[in-house]
Amino acid sequence: MDVAAPLIRLLLYGGAALAIGRGTLTVFAREVNDAPTDPRAVRVSLWLAALALVVAPLALLLLQQQALELTMAELPGLLRDTTWGRGWVPLAMSCVLSAILLPMPRTRSWLLLAALGLAVAMGGLGHAAADDQWPFASRVFDALHVVGVGAWIGGLVLMLLAGAGDAVPSATVWRAFSRTATVMAPVVLLSGVGSTWRRVGGSAPMAILASDYGKLLLLKVALAMAVMAMGFTQRRRIAAGQTPSRTVVLREVLLAAVVLGATAWMTGTEPPGE
Ligand code: HEM
Repeated sequence: MDVAAPLIRLLLYGGAALAIGRGTLTVFAREVNDAPTDPRAVRVSLWLAALALVVAPLALLLLQQQALELTMAELPGLLRDTTWGRGWVPLAMSCVLSAILLPMPRTRSWLLLAALGLAVAMGGLGHAAADDQWPFASRVFDALHVVGVGAWIGGLVLMLLAGAGDAVPSATVWRAFSRTATVMAPVVLLSGVGSTWRRVGGSAPMAILASDYGKLLLLKVALAMAVMAMGFTQRRRIAAGQTPSRTVVLREVLLAAVVLGATAWMTGTEPPGE
Protein backbone atom coordinates (compact mmCIF):
# COMPACT_ATOMS: atom_id res chain seq x y z
CA MET A 1 0.00 0.00 0.00
CA ASP A 2 1.36 3.43 -0.97
CA VAL A 3 1.53 5.68 2.10
CA ALA A 4 3.96 8.31 0.81
CA ALA A 5 1.48 10.11 -1.47
CA PRO A 6 -1.33 10.41 1.14
CA LEU A 7 1.20 11.59 3.75
CA ILE A 8 2.53 14.27 1.40
CA ARG A 9 -1.01 15.44 0.60
CA LEU A 10 -1.75 15.54 4.35
CA LEU A 11 1.33 17.73 4.80
CA LEU A 12 0.06 20.03 2.03
CA TYR A 13 -3.46 20.20 3.52
CA GLY A 14 -2.09 20.93 7.00
CA GLY A 15 0.25 23.68 5.77
CA ALA A 16 -2.45 25.23 3.58
CA ALA A 17 -5.02 25.14 6.40
CA LEU A 18 -2.68 26.98 8.79
CA ALA A 19 -1.70 29.57 6.14
CA ILE A 20 -5.35 30.31 5.28
CA GLY A 21 -6.34 30.19 8.95
CA ARG A 22 -3.62 32.68 9.87
CA GLY A 23 -4.51 34.98 6.97
CA THR A 24 -8.26 35.03 7.63
CA LEU A 25 -7.94 35.25 11.43
CA THR A 26 -5.71 38.28 11.39
CA VAL A 27 -7.64 40.07 8.66
CA PHE A 28 -11.27 39.24 9.50
CA ALA A 29 -11.00 38.71 13.27
CA ARG A 30 -8.93 41.82 14.00
CA GLU A 31 -9.26 41.42 17.79
CA VAL A 32 -6.75 38.55 17.46
CA ASN A 33 -4.10 41.13 16.49
CA ASP A 34 -4.35 42.78 19.92
CA ALA A 35 -1.81 40.36 21.43
CA PRO A 36 1.63 42.13 21.20
CA THR A 37 3.47 38.94 20.13
CA ASP A 38 2.39 35.46 19.15
CA PRO A 39 2.72 32.79 21.83
CA ARG A 40 5.61 30.35 21.30
CA ALA A 41 3.32 27.44 20.32
CA VAL A 42 1.77 29.56 17.54
CA ARG A 43 5.16 30.68 16.25
CA VAL A 44 6.45 27.07 16.18
CA SER A 45 3.32 25.90 14.33
CA LEU A 46 3.72 28.67 11.73
CA TRP A 47 7.33 27.66 11.06
CA LEU A 48 6.30 24.00 10.76
CA ALA A 49 3.49 24.94 8.35
CA ALA A 50 5.98 26.97 6.29
CA LEU A 51 8.30 23.94 6.16
CA ALA A 52 5.39 21.70 5.11
CA LEU A 53 4.52 24.12 2.29
CA VAL A 54 8.08 23.94 0.92
CA VAL A 55 8.51 20.17 1.31
CA ALA A 56 5.06 19.05 0.03
CA PRO A 57 5.20 20.39 -3.57
CA LEU A 58 8.81 19.20 -4.00
CA ALA A 59 7.86 15.75 -2.71
CA LEU A 60 4.83 15.64 -5.04
CA LEU A 61 7.12 16.45 -7.98
CA LEU A 62 9.56 13.72 -6.94
CA LEU A 63 6.74 11.17 -6.69
CA GLN A 64 5.43 12.12 -10.13
CA GLN A 65 8.95 11.86 -11.57
CA GLN A 66 9.35 8.36 -10.08
CA ALA A 67 5.87 7.24 -11.16
CA LEU A 68 6.54 8.28 -14.77
CA GLU A 69 10.20 7.09 -14.58
CA LEU A 70 11.50 10.41 -15.90
CA THR A 71 15.09 11.60 -15.80
CA MET A 72 16.00 15.00 -14.33
CA ALA A 73 16.46 16.34 -17.87
CA GLU A 74 12.83 15.45 -18.66
CA LEU A 75 11.40 17.45 -15.71
CA PRO A 76 11.10 20.80 -17.59
CA GLY A 77 9.01 18.98 -20.23
CA LEU A 78 6.78 17.50 -17.51
CA LEU A 79 6.15 20.97 -16.08
CA ARG A 80 5.68 22.66 -19.46
CA ASP A 81 3.78 20.13 -21.57
CA THR A 82 1.46 18.18 -19.22
CA THR A 83 -1.76 19.14 -17.40
CA TRP A 84 -0.20 17.84 -14.18
CA GLY A 85 2.86 20.07 -14.65
CA ARG A 86 0.78 23.13 -15.48
CA GLY A 87 -1.17 22.50 -12.25
CA TRP A 88 1.98 21.96 -10.20
CA VAL A 89 3.75 25.23 -11.14
CA PRO A 90 1.14 27.65 -9.65
CA LEU A 91 0.73 25.33 -6.66
CA ALA A 92 4.47 25.35 -5.93
CA MET A 93 4.69 29.13 -6.42
CA SER A 94 1.78 29.88 -4.06
CA CYS A 95 3.11 27.34 -1.52
CA VAL A 96 6.55 28.97 -1.44
CA LEU A 97 5.10 32.49 -1.26
CA SER A 98 2.80 31.50 1.63
CA ALA A 99 5.74 29.76 3.35
CA ILE A 100 7.85 32.94 3.16
CA LEU A 101 5.04 35.17 4.47
CA LEU A 102 3.75 32.80 7.18
CA PRO A 103 6.33 33.46 9.91
CA MET A 104 6.55 37.22 9.17
CA PRO A 105 4.60 39.37 11.64
CA ARG A 106 3.60 42.35 9.47
CA THR A 107 2.59 40.83 6.15
CA ARG A 108 -0.77 39.36 7.08
CA SER A 109 -2.91 40.81 4.27
CA TRP A 110 -0.29 39.61 1.76
CA LEU A 111 -0.37 36.21 3.43
CA LEU A 112 -4.13 36.07 2.98
CA LEU A 113 -3.73 36.82 -0.75
CA ALA A 114 -1.00 34.19 -1.16
CA ALA A 115 -3.03 31.62 0.79
CA LEU A 116 -6.14 32.30 -1.33
CA GLY A 117 -3.97 31.74 -4.41
CA LEU A 118 -2.85 28.47 -2.84
CA ALA A 119 -6.50 27.43 -2.30
CA VAL A 120 -7.23 28.06 -5.98
CA ALA A 121 -4.05 26.29 -7.12
CA MET A 122 -4.78 23.16 -5.04
CA GLY A 123 -7.60 22.18 -7.38
CA GLY A 124 -5.12 22.13 -10.28
CA LEU A 125 -3.58 18.79 -9.29
CA GLY A 126 -6.58 16.80 -8.08
CA HIS A 127 -9.81 15.38 -9.49
CA ALA A 128 -11.26 18.87 -9.99
CA ALA A 129 -8.66 19.50 -12.73
CA ALA A 130 -9.81 16.35 -14.55
CA ASP A 131 -13.48 17.37 -14.73
CA ASP A 132 -14.06 17.91 -18.46
CA GLN A 133 -17.80 18.51 -18.18
CA TRP A 134 -17.96 21.26 -15.52
CA PRO A 135 -14.32 22.38 -15.14
CA PHE A 136 -15.09 25.85 -13.78
CA ALA A 137 -17.70 24.71 -11.22
CA SER A 138 -15.38 21.92 -10.05
CA ARG A 139 -12.50 24.32 -9.47
CA VAL A 140 -14.74 26.86 -7.70
CA PHE A 141 -16.17 24.20 -5.34
CA ASP A 142 -12.64 22.98 -4.61
CA ALA A 143 -11.21 26.44 -3.94
CA LEU A 144 -14.15 27.42 -1.70
CA HIS A 145 -13.81 24.14 0.19
CA VAL A 146 -10.11 24.68 0.86
CA VAL A 147 -10.66 28.32 1.90
CA GLY A 148 -13.49 27.26 4.24
CA VAL A 149 -11.45 24.43 5.78
CA GLY A 150 -8.46 26.71 6.30
CA ALA A 151 -10.38 29.62 7.81
CA TRP A 152 -12.38 27.35 10.11
CA ILE A 153 -10.07 24.43 11.08
CA GLY A 154 -6.74 26.21 10.54
CA GLY A 155 -8.03 29.17 12.56
CA LEU A 156 -9.27 26.85 15.31
CA VAL A 157 -5.85 25.17 15.60
CA LEU A 158 -4.19 28.59 16.00
CA MET A 159 -6.74 29.65 18.64
CA LEU A 160 -6.12 26.41 20.55
CA LEU A 161 -2.35 26.89 20.39
CA ALA A 162 -2.65 30.54 21.45
CA GLY A 163 -4.45 29.27 24.57
CA ALA A 164 -1.46 27.07 25.46
CA GLY A 165 0.57 30.18 26.38
CA ASP A 166 0.11 32.75 29.14
CA ALA A 167 -2.14 35.10 27.11
CA VAL A 168 -5.23 32.86 26.81
CA PRO A 169 -7.61 34.25 24.12
CA SER A 170 -10.42 36.22 25.75
CA ALA A 171 -14.16 35.71 25.14
CA THR A 172 -14.04 38.73 22.77
CA VAL A 173 -11.28 37.14 20.67
CA TRP A 174 -13.19 33.83 20.59
CA ARG A 175 -16.32 35.72 19.49
CA ALA A 176 -14.35 37.25 16.61
CA PHE A 177 -13.13 33.80 15.55
CA SER A 178 -16.61 32.33 15.95
CA ARG A 179 -18.03 34.91 13.49
CA THR A 180 -15.61 33.66 10.81
CA ALA A 181 -16.22 29.97 11.64
CA THR A 182 -20.00 30.49 11.50
CA VAL A 183 -19.68 31.63 7.88
CA MET A 184 -16.98 29.14 6.88
CA ALA A 185 -18.48 25.88 8.24
CA PRO A 186 -21.54 26.16 5.92
CA VAL A 187 -19.16 27.11 3.05
CA VAL A 188 -17.26 23.85 3.71
CA LEU A 189 -20.50 21.87 3.80
CA LEU A 190 -22.03 23.37 0.65
CA SER A 191 -18.81 23.27 -1.41
CA GLY A 192 -18.28 19.67 -0.17
CA VAL A 193 -21.78 18.79 -1.43
CA GLY A 194 -20.90 20.47 -4.76
CA SER A 195 -17.66 18.46 -5.08
CA THR A 196 -19.51 15.27 -4.11
CA TRP A 197 -21.97 15.94 -6.94
CA ARG A 198 -19.10 16.39 -9.42
CA ARG A 199 -17.16 13.29 -8.27
CA VAL A 200 -19.92 10.71 -7.69
CA GLY A 201 -23.14 12.39 -8.94
CA GLY A 202 -23.27 10.31 -12.13
CA SER A 203 -22.82 6.91 -10.41
CA ALA A 204 -25.38 4.51 -8.95
CA PRO A 205 -25.44 4.33 -5.10
CA MET A 206 -24.21 0.69 -5.12
CA ALA A 207 -21.28 1.61 -7.42
CA ILE A 208 -20.37 4.48 -5.07
CA LEU A 209 -20.45 2.21 -2.02
CA ALA A 210 -18.45 -0.50 -3.80
CA SER A 211 -15.56 1.90 -4.56
CA ASP A 212 -12.77 2.80 -2.12
CA TYR A 213 -13.45 6.44 -3.00
CA GLY A 214 -17.11 6.14 -1.99
CA LYS A 215 -16.30 4.36 1.30
CA LEU A 216 -13.71 6.95 2.27
CA LEU A 217 -16.06 9.79 1.28
CA LEU A 218 -18.82 8.32 3.46
CA LEU A 219 -16.41 7.99 6.42
CA LYS A 220 -15.15 11.51 5.86
CA VAL A 221 -18.61 13.08 5.70
CA ALA A 222 -19.70 11.24 8.91
CA LEU A 223 -16.60 12.49 10.77
CA ALA A 224 -16.96 16.01 9.32
CA MET A 225 -20.54 16.14 10.62
CA ALA A 226 -19.28 15.22 14.10
CA VAL A 227 -16.71 18.05 13.89
CA MET A 228 -19.47 20.48 12.89
CA ALA A 229 -21.71 19.31 15.75
CA MET A 230 -18.88 19.90 18.27
CA GLY A 231 -18.25 23.35 16.82
CA PHE A 232 -21.94 24.17 17.09
CA THR A 233 -22.05 23.36 20.84
CA GLN A 234 -19.06 25.64 21.45
CA ARG A 235 -20.55 28.40 19.30
CA ARG A 236 -23.49 28.52 21.73
CA ARG A 237 -21.10 28.89 24.69
CA ILE A 238 -19.22 31.68 22.92
CA ALA A 239 -22.46 33.48 22.02
CA ALA A 240 -23.34 33.37 25.74
CA GLY A 241 -20.10 35.27 26.51
CA GLN A 242 -18.02 32.27 27.67
CA THR A 243 -14.81 30.85 26.23
CA PRO A 244 -15.17 27.34 24.74
CA SER A 245 -14.16 24.18 26.56
CA ARG A 246 -10.49 23.44 25.75
CA THR A 247 -11.18 19.69 25.89
CA VAL A 248 -13.95 19.92 23.29
CA VAL A 249 -11.86 22.21 21.05
CA LEU A 250 -8.94 19.76 21.31
CA ARG A 251 -11.23 16.84 20.34
CA GLU A 252 -12.66 18.90 17.48
CA VAL A 253 -9.15 19.62 16.14
CA LEU A 254 -8.06 15.96 16.48
CA LEU A 255 -11.18 14.74 14.66
CA ALA A 256 -10.65 17.34 11.93
CA ALA A 257 -7.08 15.99 11.53
CA VAL A 258 -8.59 12.52 10.97
CA VAL A 259 -10.92 14.06 8.35
CA LEU A 260 -7.88 15.57 6.62
CA GLY A 261 -6.17 12.14 6.73
CA ALA A 262 -9.24 10.43 5.20
CA THR A 263 -9.35 13.14 2.51
CA ALA A 264 -5.64 12.72 1.73
CA TRP A 265 -6.30 9.00 1.23
CA MET A 266 -9.52 9.56 -0.73
CA THR A 267 -8.03 12.02 -3.23
CA GLY A 268 -5.50 9.33 -4.24
CA THR A 269 -8.25 6.86 -5.23
CA GLU A 270 -10.39 7.00 -8.37
CA PRO A 271 -14.00 8.15 -8.07
CA PRO A 272 -16.49 5.48 -9.29
CA GLY A 273 -17.03 5.39 -13.05
CA GLU A 274 -13.61 6.92 -13.94
C1 HEM B 1 -14.18 19.16 8.75
C2 HEM B 1 -14.69 19.18 7.54
C3 HEM B 1 -13.92 18.97 6.26
C4 HEM B 1 -12.57 19.05 6.01
C5 HEM B 1 -11.45 19.36 7.00
C6 HEM B 1 -12.37 18.77 4.58
C7 HEM B 1 -11.16 18.82 3.92
C8 HEM B 1 -10.97 18.65 2.55
C9 HEM B 1 -9.75 18.86 1.83
C10 HEM B 1 -8.44 19.36 2.43
C11 HEM B 1 -9.97 18.54 0.53
C12 HEM B 1 -8.92 18.49 -0.61
C13 HEM B 1 -9.05 19.66 -1.54
C14 HEM B 1 -8.00 19.61 -2.63
O1 HEM B 1 -7.19 18.70 -2.71
O2 HEM B 1 -7.99 20.54 -3.46
C15 HEM B 1 -11.34 18.11 0.42
C16 HEM B 1 -11.94 17.68 -0.74
C17 HEM B 1 -13.24 17.21 -0.80
N1 HEM B 1 -14.17 17.22 0.22
FE1 HEM B 1 -13.90 17.88 2.10
N2 HEM B 1 -13.60 18.49 4.02
C18 HEM B 1 -14.56 18.60 5.01
C19 HEM B 1 -15.90 18.42 4.85
C20 HEM B 1 -16.51 17.89 3.74
C21 HEM B 1 -17.90 17.58 3.60
C22 HEM B 1 -18.95 17.82 4.69
C23 HEM B 1 -18.07 17.03 2.33
C24 HEM B 1 -19.31 16.51 1.67
C25 HEM B 1 -20.52 16.90 1.92
C26 HEM B 1 -16.78 17.00 1.70
C27 HEM B 1 -16.53 16.51 0.43
C28 HEM B 1 -15.35 16.65 -0.27
C29 HEM B 1 -15.14 16.20 -1.63
C30 HEM B 1 -16.14 15.47 -2.53
C31 HEM B 1 -13.83 16.59 -1.98
C32 HEM B 1 -13.16 16.42 -3.36
C33 HEM B 1 -12.21 15.27 -3.35
C34 HEM B 1 -11.68 14.99 -4.75
O3 HEM B 1 -11.36 15.92 -5.51
O4 HEM B 1 -11.62 13.82 -5.10
N3 HEM B 1 -15.85 17.54 2.57
N4 HEM B 1 -11.94 18.19 1.67
